[in-house]
Amino acid sequence: MMEAVLAVDEDGVIGVDGKLPWNLPDDLRHFRELTLGHAIVMGRKTYESIGRPLPQRENIVLSRDPSFQPQGVRVVRDPKEVLALPGTVFVIGGAHVFRLFLPHCQRFHITHVAGKFPREGAVARISLDFLKGLPITRASFHPKDDRHSHAFTLCTYERRLAEREPMALKPL
Ligand SMILES: NC(=O)c1ccc[n+]([C@@H]2O[C@H](COP(=O)([O-])OP(=O)(O)OC[C@H]3O[C@@H](n4cnc5c(N)ncnc54)[C@H](OP(=O)(O)O)[C@@H]3O)[C@@H](O)[C@H]2O)c1
Repeated sequence: MMEAVLAVDEDGVIGVDGKLPWNLPDDLRHFRELTLGHAIVMGRKTYESIGRPLPQRENIVLSRDPSFQPQGVRVVRDPKEVLALPGTVFVIGGAHVFRLFLPHCQRFHITHVAGKFPREGAVARISLDFLKGLPITRASFHPKDDRHSHAFTLCTYERRLAEREPMALKPL
């Protein structure tokens, strides 16, 4: 089963200049609690923005670069390998990797960040169309405060198995 975890602003922005454009420690704690003990799949750019393998999780990183072989992570060249993994696999970004795997996910843990972010710099964004019509099975609001740069709402969306894409990946 594949699940996606992502934080996104009101316009689909998930990153600016290779980083997250907000500071939301309680969202990061939520991410950690969700993913601990499971496999996490990310793109090479997201791995490099984190800078190290995340502990107590199997770190799987997609890259076509044969010289990219960091310690403590499993590098995967072919996205189909990810679809064949057993157990629960969390897709954690970035935009390229979400575009590849969102059609195959059954559950989406979305942090809706209140606000819109400046468009300067290298902006990573995704379309949120895939959420249209999906039932929300859990939602909780977190206000902006001294520790959190923005208000946000944690939502879980579920897709029935029959609504998932066939196992063959579409070309990018
Ligand atoms: N808000 C969130 O929830 C969230 C989560 C994660 C990341 N982000 C943000 O997203 C941004 C990064 O996203 P991004 O889209 O630029 O990069 P990315 O998806 O993290 O990584 C892209 C890289 O993945 C590899 N890749 C992609 N498709 C592949 C395929 N079909 N086969 C093999 N390898 C493949 C390539 O690596 P090579 O170039 O090495 O071949 C590609 O350059 C950052 O700003 C980050 O902070 C946000």
